[in-house]
Amino acid sequence: MPYDQNLSMDQLVQSDRVHKACYADDDIFEQELENIFYKSWIYMGHESQVPNPGDYWTTWIGKQRMILSRGDDGQVHVLYNRCPHRGALLCNAQHGNAGKAFRCPYHAWQFHMDGSVRQIPMKQGYDGTADVLQDAEFAMKKAERYDTYRGFVFASLSEDGPDLLTWLGQGAKAAFDDICNRSPEGEVEVVPNCFRIIQKSNWKIFLENQLDALHPSITHHSTGDAAAEMQKVYKERTGEDAPMGYQMLADFTLPFEKWDSISTYGYEYGHTVLGGYMGLRPRDPVTLDHEAGLAEAYGAERMEEILSTNVHHVLVYPCLSVQPPLQQLRAVRPLAADKTMTEIWHFRLKGAPEGIYERSLAYYYHVNSPSTMVNADDLQNFYSCHEGLRQAGGGDWVSFHRNAGQDITEGGVTTSVTGMSEQPMRNMFAAWKKYMSGGN
Ligand code: FES
Ligand SMILES: [Fe+2]
Repeated sequence: MPYDQNLSMDQLVQSDRVHKACYADDDIFEQELENIFYKSWIYMGHESQVPNPGDYWTTWIGKQRMILSRGDDGQVHVLYNRCPHRGALLCNAQHGNAGKAFRCPYHAWQFHMDGSVRQIPMKQGYDGTADVLQDAEFAMKKAERYDTYRGFVFASLSEDGPDLLTWLGQGAKAAFDDICNRSPEGEVEVVPNCFRIIQKSNWKIFLENQLDALHPSITHHSTGDAAAEMQKVYKERTGEDAPMGYQMLADFTLPFEKWDSISTYGYEYGHTVLGGYMGLRPRDPVTLDHEAGLAEAYGAERMEEILSTNVHHVLVYPCLSVQPPLQQLRAVRPLAADKTMTEIWHFRLKGAPEGIYERSLAYYYHVNSPSTMVNADDLQNFYSCHEGLRQAGGGDWVSFHRNAGQDITEGGVTTSVTGMSEQPMRNMFAAWKKYMSGGN
């Protein structure tokens, strides 16, 4: 999109407003890939996606196609999906088991699951030309760095920068601690496969929406009202409370005051957290059973501590939105300035009652899946925002003025004064500006 190229970074990103080119300009998008997606840590998947040697999943870091694999020695690896011979994609399927080796479909070079060369047909053709079995140039390239936190695998295409734990920090680590601690075994297991949505909008519009506490009562009003009405009908007809899925939707009708009372927190590197608002501890047999299991594993006090952790969304900037109490996450894969893919995954808490999984599944289907009325309404807003922003006329700015200048910063953590404060957007853009200016 045409915009004044003389605008400095400070002019594009101000403390309470941002220029629309940050969302809609193709060159800025390319710079985002270079400075943000190829420098920070990006979520690749969960270790349980590749439980056995030879297992692999393909995924992306920006425009780079990557492979998550499990070697014979049980180690998980992240590799570039590119054959070192003439450049073909090694894995064309989304996931599978490669057996003993990745075998290139073009000329059958074979590679171990850690990328090293296993075999090359008619190898004598290389006698006197190159050491194709030993020279690193002929191995599949590994991601510059990869690491795991509690089973969640991240990779970085930059050799420099903070290690994964430093980068996650207290704010983002809490997402994975909260999700895993809810299992009496301290572990989760992915439920394959995921839903995928291609959104016709910039990736930041999706992330900003996750912590936008002003929109639910407006955007999702009709869905929430219909669910609340059905709860009444269910009770009248059966004498019992409707299944929890109805409440998950009815919550969207909460009054503004309630949304405004939730806190949001901003951390370094752009990670942001929205406090919880859903009552997920009814006194039903499933919850009691879950509590008993956790108390047996960790003691009553620790069980209480774990279940009172009250967060709704944790954004691991720029690549993830995690909902720990509902065991799901959405991974953000930017494809172009105006095109973003999100993957919607959910998890089982190992050792927890089946009813807890069913609760997670209900939220997955009712709220996060592509076919829900909730998601359809959000997607329409995302498209509509991007459509407004990509146009040359009509104004240049996106406003983040709500409660600007009132954020409270202490010990590197920024807290909003109200739930509807646009503090999360300001926090994300502060990180964006740092990354785009060459810092990480
Ligand atoms: S391109 Fe892979 S073996 Fe030739
Ligand atoms: Fe929404």
